Amino acid sequence: MKHAAAFGALTILLGGLAVSAHADQGAIEYRQAVFQAIGGHMTALVRIVRREVPHTDDLAVHAAGIADLAPLTEHIFPEGSGDGRTDALPAIWNNPDDFSQRRDAFIEAAEGLRNAAGGPMNQFMPAFQTLGGTCQGCHDNYRAD
Ligand code: HEC
Repeated sequence: MKHAAAFGALTILLGGLAVSAHADQGAIEYRQAVFQAIGGHMTALVRIVRREVPHTDDLAVHAAGIADLAPLTEHIFPEGSGDGRTDALPAIWNNPDDFSQRRDAFIEAAEGLRNAAGGPMNQFMPAFQTLGGTCQGCHDNYRAD
């Protein structure tokens, strides 16, 4: 009985989402969720490298998390997803070549961080700074303040 009720509630929830969510707003919210996940790993890495927590063994997990998520940026900017509640600027779709270059630099830097994790800190830190630069480089040009 409990299960039937829970299933009913889930069906209503999913049905409600399907009719209420405008397709483009769904794409926007998915994109933002992906960036929040990336941002969560970045925040965790900052806490570790500042030695606010002693979890240096977790560096590789967070670096891998970012490296796994980074290629998703190849498909989370579909045409039309610049309209709605988003900080993504129209420049993304107006300058596709520059945007993809920055995106590719980010994916490469994330892979670089994955490779540097597990190695000495004096190799991890430059890779971390390179990655941070690719976040900022894209945000400065393609994300509203
Ligand atoms: C190629 C461009 C690009 C790169 C690289 C990039 N971002 Fe972003 N990011 C964006 C855009 C555009 C948005 C706005 C998304 C929206 O509102 O639809 C965004 C949004 C975000 C958000 C806010 C999500 C929300 O809640 O709305 C966070 C956090 C974030 N990025 C973190 C990062 C971090 C950390 C990195 C690097 C590790 C990074 N981003 C790399 C383009 C980029």
